[in-house]
Amino acid sequence: MQKTLTIIKPDAVARCYAGEILAQMEKNGLVIKALKMLKLSREQACEFYIVHHKRPFYDDLTDYMSSGPVIAAVLEGDNAIDKVRSLLGATDPNEAEAGTLRAQFGQNRQENAIHASDSPESADFEIPFIFSQLELSNYEKIFSN
Ligand code: CMP
Repeated sequence: MQKTLTIIKPDAVARCYAGEILAQMEKNGLVIKALKMLKLSREQACEFYIVHHKRPFYDDLTDYMSSGPVIAAVLEGDNAIDKVRSLLGATDPNEAEAGTLRAQFGQNRQENAIHASDSPESADFEIPFIFSQLELSNYEKIFSN
């Protein structure tokens, strides 16, 4: 079992695709272990995407990711990180395979509907960046019986 972080991006939340995106994740065997809507500040978006800070798209990306509410989820499943990445498809929705989430719901490379951790190291950074210890432990506390 592995956990990964997904963020339904401002464009997909605004266009009311969040429910459909989460439904497709669940239909593919992923279990929602934590979930919330939030709005990142510009500073938080910069820190979250710090790995891209030298890329030419960094300023636009962090502006965009802090432009409106997002919905973040921790998903769990067998091989969850690779599984979610393959459900997402390529970064650019125009290059993503038909049926993938970005092909269905993304608009362009930046407004590509959804983010997901790309490695166990990223998930280890991203999950506690977005969710508190209390939020992460709620699932086990509330639903273990
Ligand atoms: P995401 O999975 O959130 O991880 C980093 C993001 O940077 C990526 O999705 C895209 O939204 C964005 N991105 C990656 N490459 C480019 C690019 N060439 N131009 C604009 N945005 C990009």
